Amino acid sequence: MTTFIAVLYIISFALFIYGLMGLTGPRTAVRGNWIAAVGMGIAVIATLLTPGMGNWLLIALGVAIGVVVGVPSARKVKMTAMPQMVALFNGVGGGAVALIAWVEFRTTDGYAHEPAYVAIASLFAAIVGSVSFWGSNIAFGKLQELISGRPITLGKLQQPVNAIVLLAAIVFAVVIATGGDAELLMIGLLLAAGVLGVVVVLPIGGADMPVVISLLNALTGLSAAAMGLALDNTALIVAGMIVGASGSILTNLMAKAMNRSIPAIVAGGFGGGSAVASGGSGEVRPVRSTSASDTAIQMAYANKVVVVPGYGMAVAQAQHMVREMAKLLEAKGITVEYAIHPVAGRMPGHMNVLLAEADVPYEQLKEMDEINSEFAQTDVALVIGANDVTNPAAETDPGSPIYGMPILKVNHSRSVIVLKRSMSSGFAGIDNELFYDAKTSMLFGDAKSSVSEIVEELKAL
Ligand code: TAP
Repeated sequence: MTTFIAVLYIISFALFIYGLMGLTGPRTAVRGNWIAAVGMGIAVIATLLTPGMGNWLLIALGVAIGVVVGVPSARKVKMTAMPQMVALFNGVGGGAVALIAWVEFRTTDGYAHEPAYVAIASLFAAIVGSVSFWGSNIAFGKLQELISGRPITLGKLQQPVNAIVLLAAIVFAVVIATGGDAELLMIGLLLAAGVLGVVVVLPIGGADMPVVISLLNALTGLSAAAMGLALDNTALIVAGMIVGASGSILTNLMAKAMNRSIPAIVAGGFGGGSAVASGGSGEVRPVRSTSASDTAIQMAYANKVVVVPGYGMAVAQAQHMVREMAKLLEAKGITVEYAIHPVAGRMPGHMNVLLAEADVPYEQLKEMDEINSEFAQTDVALVIGANDVTNPAAETDPGSPIYGMPILKVNHSRSVIVLKRSMSSGFAGIDNELFYDAKTSMLFGDAKSSVSEIVEELKAL
């Protein structure tokens, strides 16, 4: 049986790795997800086959609750709410690791009789799992607007409080590792780590939250791998390391694309408050507005149109209409491409997923570095619900919260048309000079309605 279980585990993590490879492109992502899910199913079966598994009724109840809660919520969640869903699911993973460490502590009467590596790995898993669970719940609360997205800080006490709770968790861990077997010690450790998760995430603003979620996700993976080491469970080690490694890479990429420093985010030092800032200076400045019919005419006479999608396209669910518009333009011999900023929208790959859903040919999606040099040869840049990722302040205004963030240089195009509902700011809460540029016209309205009007006008031309 042991060999059979080992073989099942090997199959399962081969499927995890193969599935993960599929996630590198929108075309293969769904299949990749299914493959990894089958791998996880096999890993669960292998674990349940372990001799002396225990109370089958409780296991069945747990699986049933997981299915009843998990499946409908994952099916119903809107794409724009995906970051908080990931936070919640990730937090549950961290919490499960912390609980396993606690159960192990109880069954082995502390870690005094265990090898040192088991004690160290279990205590690490307990601390990191608990930080991840509580931190992820706060992240969920912020993104779901159950609590304020603004940084909630303890002022000058913030860093000392962070240091004290971290120290408390370490002291509990050291006492347990050196022979302490009172259950209160373990509860104290889990509580201290939980408070640490809360006080570290509360001061971080909503704008930085997806980076934090990705970081917590990586931590959950590491804690699972540590627990796998303690339990001598290969599947847990491999799956945990995959999550830890890919989560760390993703965190790094996101932080880079938003020009954030991870240590600064974690220290609560960066201006996350920008996520809910007031929205500009309040000064009323004139902008040029345009109509769907003028937009259609302008594009019909262009050689090249670059669509710049952003969060607003996701909210409006305008991607299918955009695809229809592009087909009409292409039929007139106009080149259409899509400029993809790495943090456009609210989660990594957000625009790629939406456009793939609308069957936009993958070759037409151009990454930021590639498309930026092409804007100078672009007749019309059609900005659909994007704002911050086009804001020239990121290059010109050192005082701006987004200064240093690489942007799509749409202002280099011959003309720019921006589709949005109002002059409201985007995620960073700041004015966008692009809207006042002499080359820019604003087409106000919901993105889907505006694009559908453009489609009608194009058909009539
Ligand atoms: P944003 O700067 O957030 O701007 C989106 C714009 O869409 C808003 O200004 C809004 O203006 C418009 N909009 C909303 N609903 C609309 C609708 N139904 N129809 C038309 N327009 C609509 O978006 P972005 O340019 O994609 O930039 C993303 C921002 O999110 C960046 O600041 C980025 O750092 C941040 N962020 C990204 C991620 C990831 S990983 N993608 C994670 C966290 C944060 P109106 O209200 O006037 O319509």
